[in-house]
Amino acid sequence: MDYQKILDTIYDEISYRDVTGKVASYIPELAKVDRRKFGMHVYCGDEQHFSFGDSTELFSIQSISKVFTLAMAMRLMGEHLWDRVSVEPSGDPFNSLTQLEYESGIPRNPFINAGALVISDILVDQLDDPKQELLDFVRHITGDPSIDYDKTVAASEKSTGYRNIALVNYIKALGNIKCDVEPIVDFYFHQCSLAMSCEQLSKAFMIFANKGKILSTGEKILKPKTVKRINALMQTCGFYDEAGEFSFQVGLPGKSGVGGGIVAIHPDNYSVAVWSPILNEKGNSELGMKALERFTTLSGVSVF
Ligand code: DON
Repeated sequence: MDYQKILDTIYDEISYRDVTGKVASYIPELAKVDRRKFGMHVYCGDEQHFSFGDSTELFSIQSISKVFTLAMAMRLMGEHLWDRVSVEPSGDPFNSLTQLEYESGIPRNPFINAGALVISDILVDQLDDPKQELLDFVRHITGDPSIDYDKTVAASEKSTGYRNIALVNYIKALGNIKCDVEPIVDFYFHQCSLAMSCEQLSKAFMIFANKGKILSTGEKILKPKTVKRINALMQTCGFYDEAGEFSFQVGLPGKSGVGGGIVAIHPDNYSVAVWSPILNEKGNSELGMKALERFTTLSGVSVF
């Protein structure tokens, strides 16, 4: 498959001028990003990777980080994790509070903010230095020690993070948060501020396309069963109330973030990351979804 040719076609065919959404502004620092940015990277192996545009530029990965923290929590908790968070699509926006009330503080899935905050609680509770351990994890699976938090973005989100702070307080009132609120949201705002490029993200996500092993070294990071479950959750819950539309258009397990990034994988085949900061009304990258739809249509390779 000539993936570079397909990427070149996509870069020729679509542009930020074709989409009408807005760059995220509820995190003030994200509003400063240039809306014209557009990059994509497909990773099949160290000697086989393909890209266009701003594929090596760092951006705020935001909710994409929830896949990394879920992987860490699954390693720590095994099956007990599912007592704290469920595995059903929510059909609601990523930052919704409503289901928590009638579902007794058990979030629908680990990718909505409520679920990711319960995962943060678990990591803050069980790890000595969760921020450092998350960095170590992402650096290790990517083989890139330069990956870091963007402290300006973390502080910016903290300054307007009332909804997430409310979510943690509410879940704590319902008995599903152990730690203090402050360290949980501090960790969560940092994980969301991780700055990575499409190239780095596609490499990191290769563990989910390679049954839990780092492709370049063969090192086993996650059990195949864990990876099966994470991919199932990306497929059903990775795009919030647009998870059905993403499956329908693209046909891959994936995860989005309000920084405008999307990463998706094809098991045993490739990992692909795309970045364009213009979001649709569901908070997913508008151009990113279009690019991935073209990618699986032109290549004829999706999981369906
Ligand atoms: O918690 C928030 O609102 C952001 N840090 C992350 C949200 C996000 O990326 C949703 N994804 N599309």
